[in-house]
Amino acid sequence: MENGSRNKAKVMKRDFLHITDFTADEIWETLDLAKEIKAKLKNREDYKPFKDHSLAMIFAKPSARTRVSFETGFFRLGGQALYLGPNDIGIGKREAIKDIARVFSGYNDMIMARLFDHKHILELAEFASVPVVNGLTDYNHPCQIMADILTIYEHRKNLDNLKIVYVGDGNNIVHSWLHLAARIPFHFTCVCPAGFEPDSRAVKLVEGAGLSTAEISHNLKAGVSGADVIYTDVWASMGQKEEAETREKIFSEFQVNSAMMASTGKDTLFMHCLPAERGREVTDAVMESPQSIVFDEAENRIHAQNAIMVKIAGKM
Ligand code: CP
Ligand code: NVA
Repeated sequence: MENGSRNKAKVMKRDFLHITDFTADEIWETLDLAKEIKAKLKNREDYKPFKDHSLAMIFAKPSARTRVSFETGFFRLGGQALYLGPNDIGIGKREAIKDIARVFSGYNDMIMARLFDHKHILELAEFASVPVVNGLTDYNHPCQIMADILTIYEHRKNLDNLKIVYVGDGNNIVHSWLHLAARIPFHFTCVCPAGFEPDSRAVKLVEGAGLSTAEISHNLKAGVSGADVIYTDVWASMGQKEEAETREKIFSEFQVNSAMMASTGKDTLFMHCLPAERGREVTDAVMESPQSIVFDEAENRIHAQNAIMVKIAGKM
């Protein structure tokens, strides 16, 4: 029986769990494909690579963008997506992850999951015989950063000498930025309070690849200087909300405000994966400024993910 076989599944399918699951060529191909599919959708072309296909979407955490962009995206490509929320499966609690992996592989052509522990998505992918896409874990958020680099690519036309400065918590978003930096060249700086640095293994990955610079800094002024993009995210991620009050005090000087945006010496773009807590990590003025490309970025989730799904399903 194919569905129960781990080894056969491994040979036959591709997952997207980390940006580093793609080669540099595959990243560029996916970005170009995202642009093509975006144009097709905008023109309402008859493009249905997922006709008669279904996508199971497993959410152990809340979501607005990830749910709506995957569900709408898969539908627009001809298929049907099914939403399973935090109370539906009890993944890893009511039922073992490896059991859900095989059960859903029997019903669906692809699985997208947003889980807490990164090990859980690895297990899901190991036991599923259909492609698995990571819709965020505590460790990373690869679909988000593919959408982000697509957005920068559209705004800047090329990525030469790009300096991206992430200001805030060294979290799942930062790990995916670092993974991207291990595949394509740019300058990446993470300016964070001491004790909130990203995983050193992700930084080492960038150093080992030798394409990009990855700087982890506690110095805001020097860090944001020359930034083409300032990027931030919430100070307390999902699963850390009980730490929000303590973190707010530690992170207060890391707020992205108009003064910070003006201090870079460049016409700097502002990005945020959203949801944003306006008045905390970013001011209302920056969110609404002409430099803010957060809604282009949010829209590009659907286009980047469509391309990722088409690519790993081999529907090109
Ligand atoms: N950026 C992002 O993943 O948003 P959601 O948490 O709303 O899905
Ligand atoms: N770091 C945030 C990203 C949300 C898209 C979180 O994990 O909650």
